[in-house]
Amino acid sequence: MSDSTDMTIPSTLPLRDDLVGEEPYGAPQLDVPVCLNVNENPYPLDDAVADAIARRVRRIAPQLNRYPDRDHETLRRAFCDYLARESHTRLDVSQLWGANGSNEIMLQLFQAFGGPGRSALGADPTYSMYPEYARDTFTLWHTAHRRADFSLDVDRLVAAMRETGPAIVMLTSPNNPTGTMLPMDQLTRVLEACDEIGVQGSTRDVHPIVVVDEAYAEFRNPGTASAVSLVERYPNLAVSRTMSKAFAFAGARVGYIAANPGIIDCLRIVRMPYHLSAITQAAALAAFEHTDEQLARVQQLRDTRAATATWLRSQTYHDEPLAVADSASNFLLFGGHFDDRERIFNELLSRGVLIRVVGPEGWLRVCMGTEQEMKTFRRALGEVLSIVE
Ligand SMILES: Cc1ncc(COP(=O)(O)O)c(C=O)c1O
Repeated sequence: MSDSTDMTIPSTLPLRDDLVGEEPYGAPQLDVPVCLNVNENPYPLDDAVADAIARRVRRIAPQLNRYPDRDHETLRRAFCDYLARESHTRLDVSQLWGANGSNEIMLQLFQAFGGPGRSALGADPTYSMYPEYARDTFTLWHTAHRRADFSLDVDRLVAAMRETGPAIVMLTSPNNPTGTMLPMDQLTRVLEACDEIGVQGSTRDVHPIVVVDEAYAEFRNPGTASAVSLVERYPNLAVSRTMSKAFAFAGARVGYIAANPGIIDCLRIVRMPYHLSAITQAAALAAFEHTDEQLARVQQLRDTRAATATWLRSQTYHDEPLAVADSASNFLLFGGHFDDRERIFNELLSRGVLIRVVGPEGWLRVCMGTEQEMKTFRRALGEVLSIVE
C-alpha cells in the first residue's frame, strides 16, 4: 500500500468550481506494521469463512454475463435475520436496503433528501464524511456542537433544527471519533421534534428525516438498545449499518439501512441500476452464514478497549494524565491536551504505528488492534510521551 495524495488536475479541465482545490477524502494508506487508523476489525477471516465465500462466488460466476438482482432480495432477507438476532427487532425485507458500504447508503440519502436549497444538520465533532455527502449533493451542511463530554446537546440540536429546517438530521451512535453512545430517550426527543419542523427549501409541507449512523453498533455495551428497535415506531427514522467494522468485512464493501419502506423507495429512485454486484451479494451471504465466526472477536475488542482506556488514563503528558473519551466503539479518542498532536502522530509513525489525527485539537484517535498490535502501540506511545515531555 502507498499513499497517493498528489493531485495532477490540469487547470483547463471543467471541474466544478466548488471542487477546485478539494482533495480526495481518506486516511493515509501506509505500509506500516501496525495500522490502527481506520477502525477496522484487525482479525482476518477464518479459513472456513473464506472458503464459503469462494464457493458462493464460484457458484454464481458462470452467470456474471447477466446483471445482478437489482433489489438484492436474498441479501435483504439476510440483513433482516441478522438484525433480528443482533438488535432483537424483526423487520420486513421492505424495510431493509443494501449498498456498497454505508458510505454509499448515506450518499443515497443525501441524493434523495438533500439537494440545492436544502440543508442537513449534524452534531460535531462527528464523522468527517457527512460534509462531503452534503458538498457532493449541493446540500448545505450545518452543525450543532456536542457538550464538552461529547454527549449530544439535544436542546441545542433541536434549536438548530428549528432555525435551519434541515431535510436530514445526521446522528451517529456510537459517534466517530468520540465513541459516544446516543441514549434512546435523546433520540426519541429528536424524532418527535421533527413533526413540528418544516424542511426549508421544499415547496411542500414536509418534515426532516433522522439518520442514525450505527456503523459501530455491535461494539456497544451488551444490553444497550439500538435505534433499529425504533424503526417500526418512527417513519422518519433511518438507521445505517455496515458489515465493515465489527463484522470484519470492510474489504467487501457492504452497508445497509433499516427504515420505513417509504424511505427505502426514495433511495430506489436515486440508486445506480444494479449498484450491488453479484459478487458482493454472494460474498455477503456467505459471511452471514458464518455470523458467529465473523463476530467472534467483538467481546475481545471491547475488553481491549477497556484495558487500553485504563492504560491511557495512567499516562501523563506535561504532568497531566491523558483524557480518554468514554467509548462504546472499537476506538478511543485520547489526549485532550496535546499541544502538538501532529508530532505525537509522527513519532508513533516512525515507530511503525499508524493512528489518526482527527477530532478536536489536542486529541488523537486509536483503533483497537490485536493483542500484539496494542502491545506495540503501548510501548511506542510510552516512549513518545517520555521524549515529548
Ligand atoms: C461513523 C461511520 N459511518 C460510516 C462509515 C463508513 O463505513 P462503510 O462505508 O465501510 O460502511 C465509517 C467508516 O469509518 C464511519 O466511521
